[in-house]
Amino acid sequence: MLPNKKALDLIKIYMEKDFTSKNLKELTKKLIELDLLVKTEDNTFTVRSDDPEELMHSRVGALKEGIEKFAVPSNVTEIKNPKILDLCSGMGYNAVSALHYNINSEIDMVEYSKEMLFLSLALDIPMNEHLIIKNAIFEFFKGNGNQKIRIFNEDARFTLLRKDLKKYDCVFHDAFSPLNDPVLYTVEFLKLIYENMADSGVLISYSSSIPFRSALVECGFIISEGPSVGRKRGATLAYKNPNELQKKEIKRIPESDERLIALSGVGIPFYDKNLNLNSSEIIKNREVDRENLKNLLGDKYYSTTKIKSGKIDEKLLNIQKENLNSSEIIKKMKKIYLQN
Ligand SMILES: C[S@@+](CC[C@H](N)C(=O)[O-])C[C@H]1O[C@@H](n2cnc3c(N)ncnc32)[C@H](O)[C@@H]1O
Repeated sequence: MLPNKKALDLIKIYMEKDFTSKNLKELTKKLIELDLLVKTEDNTFTVRSDDPEELMHSRVGALKEGIEKFAVPSNVTEIKNPKILDLCSGMGYNAVSALHYNINSEIDMVEYSKEMLFLSLALDIPMNEHLIIKNAIFEFFKGNGNQKIRIFNEDARFTLLRKDLKKYDCVFHDAFSPLNDPVLYTVEFLKLIYENMADSGVLISYSSSIPFRSALVECGFIISEGPSVGRKRGATLAYKNPNELQKKEIKRIPESDERLIALSGVGIPFYDKNLNLNSSEIIKNREVDRENLKNLLGDKYYSTTKIKSGKIDEKLLNIQKENLNSSEIIKKMKKIYLQN
């Protein structure tokens, strides 16, 4: 899925003009007048997406999200020269926030839409570090590279297959919601992220979706409930091989979610074997997988309502009382459920 088409078309017109502050100001003015650029509660701006219901950020604040959902939980301040993969970098709020908390961050920004990168030049994100990002974007448009802030203007599925990637300490995963656009939430894509992370690396996403968390567990991540900013549900943190400090920070996800991931059709993840399917193909394939699971389990198949309310075999429920993290519980429950 992409940002709103009308917004992209208008930005394209300005990309052809000189990059003067007069033109950039005129662009933001027009986007605001057309209600395509929307002010959030912290006075920073976000863009409408192709789905009229979905903005690129939540209403509580585009910059607030960058800080509270990504930079702070990633613990970037504590990492020496952190290497960050900023997936779906958009206007760069998450990258600006990371630099604010650690000026030595090396960031690889991955964004499909050239227009969103350009729009960053027209915005005034109220942190000095925005100038560093603006400068990298400006150089990108001039055709120059930047060692510290690299910009990959392409589909993230292609980027993850590159040979020149780093071993990332933090991965910011900020795609549109998985039920609208599952392309970057598939097992195969998340596996590539896993392979490109440092041992103590952490992936962060605002999404708490069941199939997404299920895919993370399948890839080998240790999942943890993250902070909730502007939503009821918490964000997701996923560790590759948590160190002692990280182990202490791991929080179980809600128990009913553990059960849904382990036992229900809702817990079936998205797949994209050759990393080339579109959203509707991925969604359709998952429907088939859900139907197959139902047929395979026959009488043993629990309804979602039963699973949510915990009206299931005591043996499975007892696993949730063990001193394990959510990923371990989910794997154990699933194994026993499918064995019986
Ligand atoms: C929710 S917004 C992210 C906002 C962004 N982090 C920011 O700070 O402005 C999602 C972004 O993902 C981009 N996107 C969508 N699909 C993509 C893909 N397959 N690869 C790379 N970027 C993608 C969209 O163009 C959009 O800018």
